[in-house]
Amino acid sequence: MRYLTFALGKGRLASTTLQLFEKIGITCEEMKDKDSRKLIFVNEELKLRFFLAKGPDVPTYVEYGAADIGIVGKDTILEEGRKLYEVMDLGFGKCRMCVCGPKSAKELLEHNQLIRVATKYPNIAKDYFYNKKHQTVEIIKLNGSIELAPIVGLSEVIVDIVETGTTLRENGLDVLEEVCPLSARMVVNQVSMKMEDERIRKIIQNLKTVI
Ligand code: PRP
Repeated sequence: MRYLTFALGKGRLASTTLQLFEKIGITCEEMKDKDSRKLIFVNEELKLRFFLAKGPDVPTYVEYGAADIGIVGKDTILEEGRKLYEVMDLGFGKCRMCVCGPKSAKELLEHNQLIRVATKYPNIAKDYFYNKKHQTVEIIKLNGSIELAPIVGLSEVIVDIVETGTTLRENGLDVLEEVCPLSARMVVNQVSMKMEDERIRKIIQNLKTVI
C-alpha cells in the first residue's frame, strides 16, 4: 500500500486537525513534540504521512500531487485558486472575510468611489470589488497587521479575516461589509480522488461521524 500524504497548514489549524484525526483513530505521536524541527511525520501502521507547510502553500502541494490531501482555510483556497477538490467543511476555524475600516468609510463603499483597499488577500478583494460590487478600487497587498493600513492612512478600507472582532475593536475599526464566511476545509488532489477513492472516502465518512 502506498502512503497517503497529508499537508497541514502550520499552527492552530494543524493542532486542531490532529485532535480531530485522533478521534477517528488516525494518530501521529511524532508530530506532538512541539520542540521537534522535523517537517514530515509517518504513521507506518496506517501508511500515512503528514507534513506541515505554510498555509498558502498547502493548495500548491495538493494540486501537484505532492500531498494527496490538504487541510487549509477557505480563505487560502479562494486566494490561491488552485485546481483541487474541496471535499469537506471541517467546522472549525470559523471566521469571516470582511471589508473593514472606520465608520466614516461606509459611504465610500456605497457611492462607488475609487478607494484604496489594503489586504493580504488581493484575489479575494479583487473578485469582491470588481465582480460582485462593480466598484473600481486600488488593491494594496500587505503581509500582516492589516488593521494598521486605515489607521496610518495607507488605505481607506481593508479586506481581512475577522474572528472575535477584538483586533478591530481595539483599533477603532468596524466591519463595513461581509465578503464570505470561512472555516477549515479538506481538499484533495484530483488524481488521488480517483486512485485512492476508497481510502479517502473512508476518512471523510469517519470524520463526518465525529464533526
Ligand atoms: C488575523 C486577522 C486579524 C485577526 C482577527 O490576523 O488578519 O488581524 O486575526 O482576529 P480577531 O477578530 O479575533 O481579532 P493574524 O493573527 O493571523 O495575524 P496577521 O496580522 O499576521 O494577519
